[in-house]
Amino acid sequence: MTAHTVATQPIPDQKAGTSGLRRKTRDFMAPHFLENYVQAILNAIGGAADKRFVVGGDGRFFNDRAIQVILRMAAANSAAEVIVGRNGLLSTPAASHLIRLNKADGGFILSASHNPGGIDEDFGLKFNMANGGPATEAVTDQILAETKSMRAYKMLDAQDIDLGQPGERRLGDMAVRIIDPVTDYAALMETLFNFDAIRGLFSDGFTMRFDAMHAVTGPYAQELLENQLWAAPGTVINATPLPDFGGGHPDPNPIWAHALMDIMTGPDAPDFGAASDGDGDRNMIVGRGAYVTPSDSLAVIAANAQLAPGYRGGLAGVARSMPTSTAVDRVAQAKNMPCFEVPTGWKFFGNLMDAGKVTLCGEESAGTGSDHVREKDGLWAVLMWLNILAATKQSVASLMQSHWQTYGRNFYTRHDYEAVDSTAANGLMDAIRQRLNSLPGQHFAGLTVSEADEFGYTDPVDGSETTGQGLRILFSDGARVVFRLSGTGTEGATLRVYLEKLENDPDRFGDAPATALADVIRAAQEIAEITPRTGRDKPDVTT
Ligand code: G6P
Ligand code: ZN
Repeated sequence: MTAHTVATQPIPDQKAGTSGLRRKTRDFMAPHFLENYVQAILNAIGGAADKRFVVGGDGRFFNDRAIQVILRMAAANSAAEVIVGRNGLLSTPAASHLIRLNKADGGFILSASHNPGGIDEDFGLKFNMANGGPATEAVTDQILAETKSMRAYKMLDAQDIDLGQPGERRLGDMAVRIIDPVTDYAALMETLFNFDAIRGLFSDGFTMRFDAMHAVTGPYAQELLENQLWAAPGTVINATPLPDFGGGHPDPNPIWAHALMDIMTGPDAPDFGAASDGDGDRNMIVGRGAYVTPSDSLAVIAANAQLAPGYRGGLAGVARSMPTSTAVDRVAQAKNMPCFEVPTGWKFFGNLMDAGKVTLCGEESAGTGSDHVREKDGLWAVLMWLNILAATKQSVASLMQSHWQTYGRNFYTRHDYEAVDSTAANGLMDAIRQRLNSLPGQHFAGLTVSEADEFGYTDPVDGSETTGQGLRILFSDGARVVFRLSGTGTEGATLRVYLEKLENDPDRFGDAPATALADVIRAAQEIAEITPRTGRDKPDVTT
């Protein structure tokens, strides 16, 4: 087996978004596209020589081919060892754990998260660092710089490695260790949660449905929920990972997980429902007839985490992304805990966790997690909820009611306008940006603007600055609207409008979010001129 150098040219626009490089699968399959990007990563981190990496993905179309390429390139670049999940599968949180557990120098995670998979759908590659978390901005900037001057990459001439059986293989001088994707992750979960209490819950007849959406969490959920925690066989549905996720859109929200929502609102609804996304880092929590917004889930976990053994000593602090509702802030205030507000993207939590400033983090985009890894973690959130339900012996609906009684209810909804013409979307944002200073004092839909700004962030640990992270409009009654363009799409622009209002009147806790937020929604329409500028009279997705 010989390593050789392949001449190449820079490929334009290999700029990572919110979470790694995401493109159409066919783009990734184009000559040199993947190879250039992998070499750019290796160059940006100072080469691969004598390093150990973790590699795995969510099993989507091209996952297996991409892994073989990464293995050959790692070997040609003199890496010492690569740890790979059997059949190339690793959930994102499991990959993060394996990097930390094995003191690896980094990891390659192949996923486009919740985006559909297939030759005409999406693919992605994300590099995580030695702390197990997504590469920081400084590193992704360096990777981008490398892509712009890419002239050659190294490749080993070799056959594919059989990834179907655990064990040690060699690729040239490099060791390849194939491991069961679930074992180490399941062992970590057992250190955090009261498995006996959860077993007791299921033994007492508690029923659950977990929708793996034909994505990577199927094997994890079957092992943990059905084998180790004694949930009834059949609790995990759509459990086999498929390259096209069964033609579905593996995004755990009421729109894309509507099959589970139908079960949870139907006559035979189980006590508890949950789902995860393509790569296993997102989660959806739903009780019998009671959907829990990600922002509320974060707040409930902040209020009750000490019921789980791994968090018995309390939380050092909490953090949320800026567009996430302020429900968790109220819990933090009551418990006298620091609460941080960061830009959208899990990478912004890493420094806070590494510095011991926060234990728990969450985002409105269905991500929740703790410092047990450096990624958000879908099954972790599900187990945390099971632990809380087992300890409190309450239903999801009654737990939510008592939470709102204590802290008030932050009504919340997000409106997405997808595949909008990029020029129109940027024009909309620019128009608001230009009016930010004049908005305070103005009235829209009966609401008065009290403050308006563009969110920027200075990392309290390393002082790095991030600007342009969303336009915030606050109203005098405490309501808020945020406008932001998605950083994860692959077609046109997606405008996200995040809407929130605090309600302290218990008689109104049962209102539908669309009703409670009607005036905020109208104000957002007026301020952003959404319909005239985008041609859309309603959002494509409402969560
Ligand atoms: C990915 C990241 C999340 C982030 C989300 C935002 O899922 O892992 O941390 O919240 O993207 O996506 P957006 O499309 O709103 O940029
Ligand atoms: Zn994901």
